[in-house]
Amino acid sequence: MVIGAGGALGTDLVARLGTPGASGAPPTDSVTALTRSELDVTDAEAVRAAVRAWRAAPGEGAAVLVNASAFTAVDLAETDPDAAARAWAVNAEAPGVLAAACAEVGARLVHVSTDYVLGPLPGGERRPLEPGDPTAPEGVYARSKLAGEERVRAALPDAHHIVRTAWLYGATGPNFVRTMARLSRERDVLDVVDDQHGSPTWTGDLADGLIALARSSAPASTRHAAGGGATTWWGLARAVFEELGADPERVRPCDTASFPRPAPRPAWSVLSDASWRSAGLEPLPPWRDALRTAVRHHPALLLG
Ligand SMILES: NC(=O)c1ccc[n+]([C@@H]2O[C@H](COP(=O)([O-])OP(=O)(O)OC[C@H]3O[C@@H](n4cnc5c(N)ncnc54)[C@H](OP(=O)(O)O)[C@@H]3O)[C@@H](O)[C@H]2O)c1
Repeated sequence: MVIGAGGALGTDLVARLGTPGASGAPPTDSVTALTRSELDVTDAEAVRAAVRAWRAAPGEGAAVLVNASAFTAVDLAETDPDAAARAWAVNAEAPGVLAAACAEVGARLVHVSTDYVLGPLPGGERRPLEPGDPTAPEGVYARSKLAGEERVRAALPDAHHIVRTAWLYGATGPNFVRTMARLSRERDVLDVVDDQHGSPTWTGDLADGLIALARSSAPASTRHAAGGGATTWWGLARAVFEELGADPERVRPCDTASFPRPAPRPAWSVLSDASWRSAGLEPLPPWRDALRTAVRHHPALLLG
């Protein structure tokens, strides 16, 4: 079952699960996919009813619910109290309800979280971050996502997979890649932040990874899954220009201070793939290769 099926990640999950043979899926897989208009995760009674209905007619094999729903407007959550309340309801409270519903019917839960929950390493160290590294969420979105993780662990201690990812872009909805493609047409030069480091992740690759995790017998845990390697937003913007056949020198580096945003962004959120490998799972492809593949599959990404 996929919840939040209309989002960037949800769309790719459903596309893969709905295609027999995709992502190694046996053709017998049955998938229930619910968009926000079909299931509002903040309606606890509706969540319980949907999960019970799903398991009332169980298919073969393991039952896994993937939660791809989230309130992701991170800046709006800082400036608009209503948005902050929605962020808390969707990102903190709803995952606990989903986890309790899974416990009731004996399903496992794959819950997607974020690099934003992590804090800086002691002493300013810079190495890829592990799930056990210190958390220090800054901002409403980050705090709500960490609270969601905690509720999932509490309600479903032996059957949860919490997967933190980062810097997502997909075929659906607004994202950084699409914005850079648009700006390449609107501006001669543009300044892009070069002091935030992370792991750009194509939703198609993450969807493949989550499906592999759901099919595995990996124990309940918190794991990191993001595109391989690391770059900065400046590096990603240059790569988008390269894919467009535009001159990457038109992208100039700037620092975070010259580009203030309402929600704080982590300066270092490069995610290690060690926890993913330790479950016997294939790490996600290197971010630069993934961008090329994503553009090949979804040329409209470069239309902005
Ligand atoms: N985007 C990133 O860079 C990023 C980075 C790290 C982690 N993540 C995490 O990755 C996951 C997937 O993110 P994404 O980029 O695919 O986000 P997305 O495109 O914003 O998709 C989220 C989906 O959740 C739906 N949703 C919102 N409120 C809901 C509700 N009350 N009930 C049911 N569905 C609801 C949204 O519907 P509407 O569109 O109708 O609101 C949307 O379809 C999230 O857990 C996110 O926190 C994202």
